[in-house]
Amino acid sequence: MAQIFHPSMRVISRASIIVVFLLVGFVGWVSWDMYRSGYFTDVNVPKEQPIPFSHEHHVNGLGISCGYCHTSVEKSAFAGIPPTHTCMTCHSQIWTGAPMLEPVRASYRTQRPLEWNRVHDLPDFAYFNHSIHVKKGMSCQVCHGNVNMMPLVWKQSTLQMAWCLDCHRQPEKFIRPVEEIYNFEYRPPQDQIAFGKELVKKYDVKTKQLTDCSICHR
Ligand code: HEC
Ligand code: HEC
Ligand code: HEC
Ligand code: HEC
Ligand code: HEC
Repeated sequence: MAQIFHPSMRVISRASIIVVFLLVGFVGWVSWDMYRSGYFTDVNVPKEQPIPFSHEHHVNGLGISCGYCHTSVEKSAFAGIPPTHTCMTCHSQIWTGAPMLEPVRASYRTQRPLEWNRVHDLPDFAYFNHSIHVKKGMSCQVCHGNVNMMPLVWKQSTLQMAWCLDCHRQPEKFIRPVEEIYNFEYRPPQDQIAFGKELVKKYDVKTKQLTDCSICHR
C-alpha cells in the first residue's frame, strides 16, 4: 500500500497525542485540586455580614455561651440563629446610640428579622441534624473550629461528603465527653482512640449504619 503520510508525521502525531493527554491530565488535576483546596468551598474565608457581629467579643470577651443564642442546637436539626429580641436584651441598654447597631434597632422597630449571610449551607439533597451529633459527644469546635475567637465567622471544614465520612467511619477519633461540647479549651487525651472507643460504646453510637447512603440522602 502506498504511504499516505511521511514517516516523520507518525512521530509528530504520536507526540501530539501524548501532549493532549498530558494537557487533559493537567487541567483535570488543577481543577480537582482547586475543588478540594477550598477555592470553591470558601474554607477559611470570613463571611461579610450586614452587621459586624463578633463572636470573639461576645463569646470570648463577654463569656456568653453558644446555647444562649443558638437555642435549638441540642434539641433540633437546626442550630438556630438568634432573633433580634436576643440582641436587644443587652443592646437596648448597652451601646444604644452606636451607628453600627442601627440595623439591629431598625429590625426591632419594624419587626423585620435581620438577614444574615449563611456561612454553612449544605445542598438540599444532604440531610444534617445538630441534636444527634451534640448528644453523642460531637463538639461545636470539631466541626466549626474556634468560633469563640472569630471576629466574623468562617467555615473551617469543607462540609463535603468525604469530610462527613471521615468521621462517620471513625467517630472515636473525634468524640469527647458530652459535658465538654462547648469547651474550647478541651484537649483530647493521649490515648484518644482507646478513650474514644469507650465513649462510642457508652453513648451507643450507631457505627454500623453511619456510612449508609440513606442516612444522609433520605
Ligand atoms: C450573642 C449571640 C451569639 C452567641 C453567644 C453565639 N453566636 Fe453564633 N451566631 C450568632 C449570630 C447573630 C450569627 C449569624 C451571623 C454570623 O454568621 O456571624 C451566628 C452565626 C454562627 C455560625 C455560622 C452560621 C452559618 O451561617 O452557617 C456558627 C457556626 C456559630 N454561630 C457558632 C457559634 C458557636 C460555636 C458559639 C459558641 C462558641 C456561638 N455561635 C455563640 C450569634 C451568636
Ligand atoms: C449579653 C449581652 C449582649 C448580647 C445578648 C448581645 N450583645 Fe452585642 N455587645 C455587647 C457588649 C457589652 C458589647 C461591647 C463589647 C466590647 O466592646 O467589648 C457589644 C458589642 C456589639 C457590637 C459592636 C462590635 C463588637 O462586637 O464589639 C455589635 C455589632 C453587636 N454587639 C451586635 C450584637 C448583635 C447583632 C447581637 C444579637 C445577635 C448582640 N450584639 C447581642 C453585649 C451583648
Ligand atoms: C458534626 C458536625 C457539626 C457539629 C458537631 C456542629 N455543627 Fe453546626 N453545622 C454543621 C453543618 C454541616 C451545618 C450546615 C447545615 C445545613 O446547611 O443544613 C451547620 C450549621 C450551623 C449553624 C447555622 C444554622 C443551621 O443550623 O444550619 C449554626 C448556628 C451552627 N451550626 C452552630 C453550631 C453549634 C453552636 C454547635 C455546638 C453546640 C454546632 N453547630 C455543632 C455541622 C456541625
Ligand atoms: C466529627 C464527627 C462527625 C462529622 C464530621 C459528621 N458526623 Fe454525622 N454523626 C456522627 C455521629 C457520632 C453520629 C451519631 C450516630 C448515632 O449514634 O446515631 C452521627 C449521626 C448522623 C446522622 C444521623 C444518623 C441517624 O441514625 O439518624 C446524620 C444524618 C448525619 N450524622 C449526617 C452527617 C452529615 C451530612 C455530615 C457532614 C455534613 C456529618 N454527619 C458529619 C459524627 C459525625
Ligand atoms: C455522612 C453523610 C453522607 C453519607 C453516609 C453519604 N453521603 Fe453523599 N453526600 C453527602 C453530602 C454532605 C454531600 C454534599 C456535599 C458534597 O458534594 O460533597 C453529598 C453528595 C453526594 C453526591 C453528589 C456528588 C457531588 O459531588 O456533588 C452523590 C452522588 C452522593 N453524595 C452519593 C452518595 C452515595 C452513593 C452514598 C453511599 C455509598 C453516600 N452519598 C453516602 C453526605 C453523605
